[in-house]
Amino acid sequence: MIKIGIISAMQEEIQALLNELKNVTTTEKGMRTYFSGTLFNKKVVLVFSRWGKVASAVTTTQLINDFDVDEIIFTGVAGAINSKLNIGDIVLGKNLYQHDMDASPLFEKFEIPILRKKYLETSNTKQLLKAANNFLNSYHQFITVHDALKFQITQPKVIEGDIASGDQFISSIEKIKQLNNWLPSACCVEMEGAAVAQVCYEYQIPFSIIRIISDKANDNATIDFPKFANTIASHYALGILKNYFA
Ligand code: ADE
Repeated sequence: MIKIGIISAMQEEIQALLNELKNVTTTEKGMRTYFSGTLFNKKVVLVFSRWGKVASAVTTTQLINDFDVDEIIFTGVAGAINSKLNIGDIVLGKNLYQHDMDASPLFEKFEIPILRKKYLETSNTKQLLKAANNFLNSYHQFITVHDALKFQITQPKVIEGDIASGDQFISSIEKIKQLNNWLPSACCVEMEGAAVAQVCYEYQIPFSIIRIISDKANDNATIDFPKFANTIASHYALGILKNYFA
């Protein structure tokens, strides 16, 4: 049976999955706890990487080398930089950019030196899109009406889109405008995805990423983000992955 590594940046984003994990064994390595077990009858290793590109790259490398995972799925929250996205919407990442990578004039802006790539692609499948749609069709099995109202979520949607990652929490309209200008196809920002994508690319491991919009990367983001991440983010992960693994 294949083994799937599941990463989130924070424990809060993965807690509902941890609660469902069976036959758990834990391993401490490099200041992280790796939870191995079965999740909906699939062999998995769950871990929260902590924030940022370095933390998530190290965790990914550890999952590949020490836990022999065959595939990696990242799940967590993101800030929307596309005005069509609302809090509670789901983004399945397509191309992952490091928006703070700039070795110009030696290399083009955003180009990852040596790899000669400005972005890395995910191996998101039709199956993951179907799982996210199935989750939305049974939304209130996972997210209470009360919680949805709390975040003014009325008609959550799923899109496949590009993601911009960087070691910055984005919380200003000026920065959103700059990112829209630099990377017009990017619909949301976060701090890990492109680093995980790069490690998976270098080790030739399939990688997919699910990001739930927790905030709109504006001056309300510092309030919206923790509120969302601490309450319903991991229930989204649970609902989507339950359908994905079914
Ligand atoms: N993750 C969730 N919201 C974010 C934001 N506004 N900036 C960076 N990472 C995020």
